[in-house]
Amino acid sequence: MTDLAMDLGTANTLVYVPGRGIILNEPSMVAISLRDNQVVCVGNEARAMHGKTPGLINVVRPIRDGVVADYDVTKHMITYFINKAITSLFRVKPKIIIGVPSGITQVEKRAVIDAAIDAGVNEVRLVEEPVAAAIGTGMPIGESCGNLIVDIGGGTTEVAIISMLTVAYVESIRVAGDELDEAMARFIKTKCHLEIGAFEGERVKIAIGSAFKLEQRLKLKVKGKDIVSGLPNAILLTDSDVHEALIEPINGIVRAVRRAMENTTPEFAEDIGTKGIVLTGGGSMIKGIGKRLNVELNVPVYRAIDPLLSVALGVGKVLEEWSVYKNVTIN
Ligand SMILES: Nc1ncnc2c1ncn2[C@@H]1O[C@H](COP(=O)(O)OP(=O)(O)OP(=O)(O)O)[C@@H](O)[C@H]1O
Ligand SMILES: [Mg+2]
Repeated sequence: MTDLAMDLGTANTLVYVPGRGIILNEPSMVAISLRDNQVVCVGNEARAMHGKTPGLINVVRPIRDGVVADYDVTKHMITYFINKAITSLFRVKPKIIIGVPSGITQVEKRAVIDAAIDAGVNEVRLVEEPVAAAIGTGMPIGESCGNLIVDIGGGTTEVAIISMLTVAYVESIRVAGDELDEAMARFIKTKCHLEIGAFEGERVKIAIGSAFKLEQRLKLKVKGKDIVSGLPNAILLTDSDVHEALIEPINGIVRAVRRAMENTTPEFAEDIGTKGIVLTGGGSMIKGIGKRLNVELNVPVYRAIDPLLSVALGVGKVLEEWSVYKNVTIN
């Protein structure tokens, strides 16, 4: 079998091949030459170029908030990843299953499908990301019970309650990891008058960011450009500064999970109260998010073992166990 499954994420794209597992996992980034607008490189190589070649190359992320923001660049990126994945396989035109955000519009769906077809695949099937994530984490979504999954990605946070392979409740909000990075950069700019590089906000968030006040004190030196003098400068940030910087988007995520709990039936609420919530997606690795949700919602909270891989493992399983899961596709 040479079909493919793909998690086309805002931050990372993963490709799964049945029988082989995840064979590609690279940043969803494309480097474009400013001289002739041509694609220079994609994925890991593009990320490595970021900020290193000012005036010559622009490194872009063609997926924004989980959906195609730049069609041509997305097409190039998908083509590159598919070709890289199928070099050693023989079928020329594979079928592909792609995970997409649950809030996706018809137009946005069309853009993903067309980009994949243009990239050389034969057939495209779409699966909602929270469903794929739940399958990927091994939740028993085929059973008649409420399974609450929260996938905090780069662009979107998806909260869904799934039972008998059917989505009983879903909400997708465009607040996730990227928003935290931006909130971090805004805070450093307004409170510390320091402008930081594109990846600095993310670095600070990962190193000392938290959704619940940490018990141990952490500090981090951050370098950037002073917005008053225009000269290089460095500041020392503490975990409580960063906690404050991130509190608003984190509250947005917590409120979305609370809405799911409030809007569900008493039966599902009881299941969730017993079995707990499962968190996944790279954003779920922010320190203290499990504790914050546990304290606020009074339910057990678990995190997937490999939060960055859940959707890819889930779409891979849909492909491998097609007869069981074919009805979870949405097109
Ligand atoms: N240790 C960590 N702590 C906090 N955030 C993290 C950590 N590791 C990765 N992240 C964040 O996870 C996000 C990427 O997660 P993921 O790969 O699941 O997103 P994605 O699937 O590409 O996005 P989306 O599902 O929204 O399209 C980024 O915002 C990244 O900063
Ligand atoms: Mg994702």
